[in-house]
Amino acid sequence: MVVTRTAPVADLDHDQLAREAIRVLIENWHGHATVPSRRLYPHQWSWDSAFIALGQLHVAPQRAAVELLSLFGAQWADGRIPHIAFNPAVADDAYFPGPSFWRSSALPGHPPIDTSGIIQPPVHAIAARAVMDRLGAPGRDFASRAYPALVAQNSYIRDQRSVNGLAAVVHPWETGLDNSPAWDQPLSAVPADLSLFDSYTRRDIDHARSSERPTDEDYARYIRLALAYRDHGYDDVWVRSRSEFVVVDPGFNALWAWSELALAEIAGALGRDSDTHRREAERITKALVDQLWSTGDEIFLARDERSGGLLGERTVAGLIPLVLPGLPAGVRNALRATLTGPAFGAGQPGMLAVPSFDLTDRRYNPRRYWRGPTWLNTTWLLVEGLRVHDGEALAQRLCDDMVALVSGAGLREYFNPRTGAGHGTSNFSWSAALLLHVLAERA
Ligand code: SER
Repeated sequence: MVVTRTAPVADLDHDQLAREAIRVLIENWHGHATVPSRRLYPHQWSWDSAFIALGQLHVAPQRAAVELLSLFGAQWADGRIPHIAFNPAVADDAYFPGPSFWRSSALPGHPPIDTSGIIQPPVHAIAARAVMDRLGAPGRDFASRAYPALVAQNSYIRDQRSVNGLAAVVHPWETGLDNSPAWDQPLSAVPADLSLFDSYTRRDIDHARSSERPTDEDYARYIRLALAYRDHGYDDVWVRSRSEFVVVDPGFNALWAWSELALAEIAGALGRDSDTHRREAERITKALVDQLWSTGDEIFLARDERSGGLLGERTVAGLIPLVLPGLPAGVRNALRATLTGPAFGAGQPGMLAVPSFDLTDRRYNPRRYWRGPTWLNTTWLLVEGLRVHDGEALAQRLCDDMVALVSGAGLREYFNPRTGAGHGTSNFSWSAALLLHVLAERA
């Protein structure tokens, strides 16, 4: 494995970068939560808030606790933590699809504020464990409030979304990797009705280049899937069996298992039973390896529940199971070889962090959202995964890459992993948060 530096990281002014990141987190804070970006994403997003909390810990630790508890305040009676908690002070049409699209308040058991009806990867227990550890004595109080919400979140996933012991997602937005090429095939079965834009207007392309965002065809499918779920009352029995898009994603499931390990630690600190959480993490890890590991591709693949087949695309989501300590040694070693090999190039000369999609696939696009650019959150997850498996040298190199990307292009949403050019929105909160987190760990 070659691990080389591509930027003279020691020469960068880390204090200046940290000040810039703190400025972004302060500007994007709106009293009880942080918007991912003031204009493109003007509400609270679920998995964003978990990454953001890790950065708030280094700015104003109490804010990290408030950020998560505020999100948990948007939890539904069935345990789902919605992917967006809408800020009532923001106009309905500032973001599409907004509250009047999702209509959460029409449902029994809805939370006190408007939300979307879909979920996102459950990374919140990871952040909550870090908040608990950092806050000292008040951390226990925080943990005792967070723990029931986190348990309910995972129970919802297990009880309402499981298929063969793994969690199914029913909308590309639930994976966090919205327009990943892995969804091209399952989405091809979903009609792309562009006449939907007679009734609905995309807002995202007011604030980011359309060449860097999902296409109109993607959006027409996203709208159709969300409308169908909404119009069936967000019924999970219906959606699991009848939705036009049902996939089992290795990234989502790995984070679910990892969150059970974090819950075990939180439960232990609270004097509660932690074994159940450890067993659940082991069970999910085993199911991931048994069902989604591809020996030929040396990566975890997503499964299309409609066809029953594995989807061949190699995406960064297939590397995320590296966060799990219980991987068999052969899987762990093969995964690390894939991470550093030609498809992802991590640690190789001329590469900055980890692309979101296979560099060798003809669909690789280093500018378009989740079809190639590198993102700081997925890179950070792999840093954590490498540390679980004694990969400190490469983990350190990826942290250097994260710093170099921001140093070169600013706190952008995503980056070209070869040139370092920045794309998507600016002043992006999780880029700021994870930069601070990485800088703090090396201080
Ligand atoms: N990521 C989606 C968006 O781009 C929704 O979660 O708006």
